[in-house]
Amino acid sequence: MTLLLIMPGRETGALEAEIRRLAPGTPVRVWPDTGEPAGVTAVVTWNHPPGSLARFPRLRLIHSFGAGVDHILSDERLPAGVPVCRVVDPGLAEQMQAYLHCVLLEQRFSMRRYLRQQADRAWLPHPQNRGDRVGLLGLGQLGEPVGRYLAGVGYRVAGWSRTPKSLPGIECQSGPEGLDRLLGASDFVICLLPLTPATRGILDASLFARMKPGAHLVNVGRGGHLREPDLVDALAGGRLAGATLDVLSKEPPAADSPLWTAPNLTLTPHVASISDPAVVARQVVENLGRLQRGEPLLHPVDPARHY
Ligand code: NAP
Ligand code: GLV
Repeated sequence: MTLLLIMPGRETGALEAEIRRLAPGTPVRVWPDTGEPAGVTAVVTWNHPPGSLARFPRLRLIHSFGAGVDHILSDERLPAGVPVCRVVDPGLAEQMQAYLHCVLLEQRFSMRRYLRQQADRAWLPHPQNRGDRVGLLGLGQLGEPVGRYLAGVGYRVAGWSRTPKSLPGIECQSGPEGLDRLLGASDFVICLLPLTPATRGILDASLFARMKPGAHLVNVGRGGHLREPDLVDALAGGRLAGATLDVLSKEPPAADSPLWTAPNLTLTPHVASISDPAVVARQVVENLGRLQRGEPLLHPVDPARHY
């Protein structure tokens, strides 16, 4: 049972070392050193070259290095019938809580503006942005704990999910009308959805038109959720007061992308919540064991739902 790590451009040393420590008998290889393709039975992937998984005729497990699996499911030559698993880790939720709280506080105190002012040696106070209504798109392994955390530090939190929910401290919405209610009431709209055929492009001009005028958009889901030209227009026209994007359709964006200079737009380089190789290794090794014993896998993706 060879495990292959396919994570181009990403450091694999810590993950490989931890898997070897936990499962010393498992041969581990790192792309592009695949060895005999028929020997590869499991892969851990992050942005694998599309089509590459089809080279392994005996593949029995495809494991994401992160929470998202859109990079796997979008592969048109994904081997059929091979289970796909993802990472679920309270540590990811804790990072996401801290990142999003930081975004909300940065907006409250206009920190960007003060940094610019400091560069100009200007001493000019501004009123705080006291908006405290947060609308979360997605109430899953990340959205729900983020909602609980933000409610706990005093925000009024609404959340939207595909299926109806009832969660303490969160006003839960679902369906198109639920989405409109959330959008119309929120000072901050945060996208924590998975990227699926149903959610691709959801953050577009029509959604911005249903948001509270002057609200702030945060996208920590995937770049494919956002129609970036629509956002640039909404910021330039003042429909939205600002936006924070941790994920983009192309990462990094092209040097001449209008995103670099759009007014009141903050970009962070996909750092809101980063997988811990030790946690991923534990989960992958656990799943390899379950696979061998014929037991149900941890955190499998439902191919019909795409998440
Ligand atoms: P998850 O546990 O699968 O939760 C997904 C949530 O979205 C669920 O509440 C689900 O509703 C809802 N949803 C899915 N499709 C929907 C639709 N069509 N309409 C309304 N709601 C829908 O996912 P997660 O672990 O929380 O992760 C979410 C995403 O965060 C990942 O897929 C990834 O893209 C992103 N992420 C980003 C970073 C970063 O650093 N920026 C880090 C980690 C993850 P139900 O509850 O009804 O199923
Ligand atoms: C990061 O974006 C992840 O999906 O874990």
